[in-house]
Amino acid sequence: MSTQAAPLTPISLKDGPSADATLARCRELVEPALRKAVQGLHPGPGRIASHAFGWCDADGTPSSGGGGKGVRPALAVLGTEAVGANADVAVPAAVAIELIHTFSLMHDDIMDGDERRRHRDSAWKAFGTGPAVLAGDALFALAVRTLAEAGGTGGGAAVHQLAVMMGELVHGQADDVLFESRPWSGPGSVSPAEYRAMAVRKTGALLGCATALGPVLAGAPPLLTDALARAGREWGLAFQAVDDVLGIWGDPAVTGKPVHSDLRRGKKTLPVLGAIAMDPSLGPRLDRLLTVNPDEAAVRRAADLVEEAGGRAYALRDARTRVATARDHLRAVPLAGRHVDELVALSQLLLDRRV
Ligand code: IPE
Ligand code: IPE
Ligand code: MG
Ligand code: MG
Repeated sequence: MSTQAAPLTPISLKDGPSADATLARCRELVEPALRKAVQGLHPGPGRIASHAFGWCDADGTPSSGGGGKGVRPALAVLGTEAVGANADVAVPAAVAIELIHTFSLMHDDIMDGDERRRHRDSAWKAFGTGPAVLAGDALFALAVRTLAEAGGTGGGAAVHQLAVMMGELVHGQADDVLFESRPWSGPGSVSPAEYRAMAVRKTGALLGCATALGPVLAGAPPLLTDALARAGREWGLAFQAVDDVLGIWGDPAVTGKPVHSDLRRGKKTLPVLGAIAMDPSLGPRLDRLLTVNPDEAAVRRAADLVEEAGGRAYALRDARTRVATARDHLRAVPLAGRHVDELVALSQLLLDRRV
């Protein structure tokens, strides 16, 4: 299996850089500081972190590619530029956010039992569960330290925001895992509203924090940082909806992570909840198909039923609405237009992605 990430779909703005070029520009700005921070870790967790970022294979041989799309650090950079601050101010915020994100994925793969991540074995699969837990802890600690050492006008407020965001992310993950054991139909079934409350915490909180953290660090006014955080939370919901779609109909050779694992585990994802909302007779059928150790045929059948009921289209429609709402949040306040355009182009990429 290749360790190279699949190329992102190029999305071009008429007068601005493509979202791919934006991601590349932000990666170039942030990656040296990210590597430097990770180099300071104990060699054990350090190796696991470098593997997760795509910088080495499990045996330590240097490698390149597959380290993630870098969406959140890009949001940190663009958010900072949008308030008129220098992009360099964003670097510690972007590093902290990508460290937290990668930590959350390491622990998430343990919770979800997923063996593949970023086109390679997930950390627990490659190194064992204990070492993967510790490597995640190391990244978390490093993130807090990186941000705390950034100083600046808004240093204290930025650390506070990171801590609040982490509490939300944990709350969202706790609901996500609890929802697995709830039924698809009848009393105790999960509503789309409950899903949204979960997803805005597990994913929206981090994207919202990513977008606002550099500006907070730079001491930008609350009118602007609040609008950026609100937009980021909407992107988080859109991003999770697309991730849910890719978890059912994505290609593991492109996404670099498993397909159908959400259905097998009974994860309450938006396409399925949307399909049930539109056709309530689907709920009991999914309970019969998926509740007791479903085989691959049952999972495929469930995916087909969800598709036929319009669940995929429902989730993608929801994602498009969220991206439009985010754009409205940004356009309602005096941010730098060119950078808002870049943020909007990037959010389009989030909708159209296959990876
Ligand atoms: C995966 O995030 C986790 C979700 C919130 C859906 P990404 O799709 O941004 O993961 P990487 O960083 O590109 O691997
Ligand atoms: C995403 O979780 C959110 C966090 C990791 C906190 P998911 O479980 O939905 O994401 P993938 O599909 O494994 O990347
Ligand atoms: Mg997962
Ligand atoms: Mg999960």
